[in-house]
Amino acid sequence: MRLQTYIEQLAGRLAAAGIHCGHGVDNVHDEAVFLVFGALDLDFHRSIRQQDRELGCDEIERLEQLVRARIEQRIPTAYLLGKAWFAGHEFICDSRALIPRSPIAELIGNGFEPLFKPGLASEPGAVLDLCCGGGCIGIACALRFPACRVDLADISGEALELARENIRLHGLEERVSARQADLFEGLNGRYDLILANPPYVSPEEIAQLPDEYGHEPALGLDGGVDGVDIAERLLRQAAKRLNPGGWLILETGYSAGELENRFPETAFLWLEFEHGGAGVCALTAEQLREIP
Ligand SMILES: C[S@@+](CC[C@H](N)C(=O)[O-])C[C@H]1O[C@@H](n2cnc3c(N)ncnc32)[C@H](O)[C@@H]1O
Repeated sequence: MRLQTYIEQLAGRLAAAGIHCGHGVDNVHDEAVFLVFGALDLDFHRSIRQQDRELGCDEIERLEQLVRARIEQRIPTAYLLGKAWFAGHEFICDSRALIPRSPIAELIGNGFEPLFKPGLASEPGAVLDLCCGGGCIGIACALRFPACRVDLADISGEALELARENIRLHGLEERVSARQADLFEGLNGRYDLILANPPYVSPEEIAQLPDEYGHEPALGLDGGVDGVDIAERLLRQAAKRLNPGGWLILETGYSAGELENRFPETAFLWLEFEHGGAGVCALTAEQLREIP
């Protein structure tokens, strides 16, 4: 069978099975492409030349095994493949940490303009990726700003193991380190840029999520009552860890409204995304100092 035909049929099968696409892609066609190209180690940039390629029996057998696990057990494709793409880079991905999908990827791609100006003196020199999971946000940032130092921090020892594997994958051992910390407790430094995608789903919402999310670590999703307990703690502690002129970029997804309710005096700057996503705000060190 031709590769293109297999992908088209697979998209139909995935739709008929009612799988949920929420882990890096948002439709069954992209999910099918991701699964097939990822499993066969094909180059996404050469897709046009690949589509007429005939699949071998052993390739179809390998693909069918993955498709069965995707449909019957609802295992997300990135976990089946052991890899994910974030901000244009490949990462090792397994159930030790959430699957990378933060819209912060787009901000990294744009070099955080206009908050920072890439290539100029205002480029961030010290960056913290707090609640780093497998480290995708901080590592992508280190790749975007070749002179910056990055700390990755997470409360989960398992997530940090994965983050360290990803640091090695990208050869960033000299500039990026991973540390265990309960938010800022356990960290000493001050930063120009703090990036945080903490858990922000309430327990009631977690119970209603599609089965795919049940394969991800609960620690990566559970944001406590109303989903914003961790984000609230983080906002109250961040000022002391930012250098003057620094920024906190915080993702709270659909819990954004609840966060605003808890900080009625704070003027949140909610960022807009060209490639989808919402619920990410930017706050200056000076604004955070006003928070009691
Ligand atoms: C939503 S995941 C984000 C992972 C990664 N940054 C990403 O965007 O894919 C949240 C992460 O926060 C971590 N976490 C939960 N509570 C924490 C805490 N109190 N301090 C530090 N990290 C925490 C979890 O272990 C999980 O890895």
